Amino acid sequence: MTHAHYNHGAIDELGRLAAESGLDVAGGTIRRSSSRFCLGVEHGDYNGTELFGVGTDRFIWLAYKPNDTGLVRLFSGNFPGDGVISFEPGTVPSPQSSEIADTWGRFPYGVDHVLRRGGIALSRGVDVVLRGNIPGGGMSRSASLTLNLILSLLDANEIEIDDPLRVVDLAQAVENDYIGSPCGQLDQIMILFAKEDMGTHYDPRNHSVSYVPLGQDALDFRLVGLDTGTVRPGLEKSTYRIRRAECDEFAEMLGPEFGISLLGDVRSQEFYDRILERYAESHPGHCDRLTYIFNAQKRFSTMLEAWKTGDVETVGQVFREDGIGLRDDYKISGPELETMCDIARTVPGVLGERMLGGGDKGAAGALVLTDSVEALETAVRTGYPRSHPAYADDFAVHVCRVVKGITVLDREL
Ligand code: GLA
Repeated sequence: MTHAHYNHGAIDELGRLAAESGLDVAGGTIRRSSSRFCLGVEHGDYNGTELFGVGTDRFIWLAYKPNDTGLVRLFSGNFPGDGVISFEPGTVPSPQSSEIADTWGRFPYGVDHVLRRGGIALSRGVDVVLRGNIPGGGMSRSASLTLNLILSLLDANEIEIDDPLRVVDLAQAVENDYIGSPCGQLDQIMILFAKEDMGTHYDPRNHSVSYVPLGQDALDFRLVGLDTGTVRPGLEKSTYRIRRAECDEFAEMLGPEFGISLLGDVRSQEFYDRILERYAESHPGHCDRLTYIFNAQKRFSTMLEAWKTGDVETVGQVFREDGIGLRDDYKISGPELETMCDIARTVPGVLGERMLGGGDKGAAGALVLTDSVEALETAVRTGYPRSHPAYADDFAVHVCRVVKGITVLDREL
């Protein structure tokens, strides 16, 4: 598969968007940012666990060129109704204000705000057109957009940030502080560092990032995003916020006695048993959250080893077990996501399946032998609309490959 294939139609579409909006990006730069699949530990980022994931080939393409107007002007093919977003750097609405709640413009506004607050003031006018095909919910559309905007606006201003983890911090701050979404750093790390055919391993204890090639002789597989067609309201309005609060609360409660600061610090069986013994009756929900994190961490090393040796069947098995934990212990899934999983589980050649990302709504995912992708698609197209007729016109199946996260295309408009 060549890189050009992934861009099929996207570049022409950017040209059409520029013409439609009157923005001038001719001869400018095109940066493509990917989506991501987390292979573990889902919901581990804000609990302090190791993380592992890959970039996937659903993207945002963004073309930009400096202009002489002093204004940043942007047009998105995904939100044409918002028209051209236009602002003078340094004059964006205040964080989390009502005027930004319903426009995608909150992302570029947030980038300007957070960079300036961090001592990196953007000053140049820039024309930007973009479009993407990442489904909303589960595959990190918002992190992909935020990273792409940060990197592209910095480049248009000829500013370099050497430390990629600083870019991760800034991207998270755009969502946490400006937009008000309580996301962690999983999405940004998995997209910014992603390399073709590699897994990215992040260890929060020393902030290290390493690459793990998929072992030789691995069975040919695909990662399939199963978009339920539901609209996810945003992490700030979902169960995600509640789970984060519960985990923080429990970690704080356990801290003094067990010497931990996050639930991911509970790594020994002895500690886990003692905690359950003490709190199972008084705090059953909190114990369930810990149970998921504890078991998912135990499975993490199995998964990593399996990836290294190319044993995708075991990777899939862990993915499946994580899904059951997310459903029954972490209780972060939703009915439509579980319908997708239940359908996927019936298909021979599906190695594992679970909800993806923030939870409640959005997309589920499956690890599937390439030969069985068609059978999965047929099963989903038959079963899902029967269970959820309200989403019969909106659900989608995305068959993905493992790709590089950020690419500046060798093309211009
Ligand atoms: C969302 C958040 C991430 C992470 C995942 C769950 O995608 O943005 O920070 O917590 O959910 O793993």
